[in-house]
Amino acid sequence: MTKPTYDKYYKEKNYFGEPYLGLVEFFKEYEPKGKVLDLGCGQGRDALFLGRLGYTVKGIDISKVGLDQMNQIANNENLKVIGEVGDVYTYPISSEYDLVLLDSMLHFYKSDIKKETNFIKRVASELKVGGVLCNFMIKGAKREKHLKSILKDIEADWKILSDNYTDYPEADSQFHMYIIKKIRGENMDSL
Ligand SMILES: C[S@@+](CC[C@H](N)C(=O)[O-])C[C@H]1O[C@@H](n2cnc3c(N)ncnc32)[C@H](O)[C@@H]1O
Repeated sequence: MTKPTYDKYYKEKNYFGEPYLGLVEFFKEYEPKGKVLDLGCGQGRDALFLGRLGYTVKGIDISKVGLDQMNQIANNENLKVIGEVGDVYTYPISSEYDLVLLDSMLHFYKSDIKKETNFIKRVASELKVGGVLCNFMIKGAKREKHLKSILKDIEADWKILSDNYTDYPEADSQFHMYIIKKIRGENMDSL
């Protein structure tokens, strides 16, 4: 497993700030408020927000520092949010999850493109029919095209719930929010 390089940043502050407005609006409106798997949840900026909205959230990360911070807040507020140390690249997407969230987990830089391509391919394939994949990644025409081409190759049909941009004021940038629902796939019995 990769080294938890974010530990030092998470010890200093709330490193990634607040959830994006686009994420806030989507999850507020989405029904039902089911079970979310947040892969690479970090300090839980999204997971905690979702927990406060009434979602049940499992967060996976390699940073025990971030997870401890998130679990402490979840515990204090009595939220149905729990973080666990794990490797997102191998963590199975079981049918208990209604939504899978990846926030800033894909960049498709040259050095990581193979690993991240296999990662999103596996996540999208394992996701149950009826499940929703929510990906937030830094805006970029090439990487957005790459993501869509990977998903097109998977034996499944998707309904696009969002293909928009949302501001990320902390970094003065925009994020692409691609939120898709699997409406047909190989594993039809999970419907
Ligand atoms: C860019 S941060 C995003 C954190 C969070 N999703 C957010 O947007 O606030 C990437 C996160 O992925 C975690 N991470 C990196 N590689 C991982 C792996 N193989 N398994 C689990 N977590 C990993 C890091 O520890 C870090 O918390």
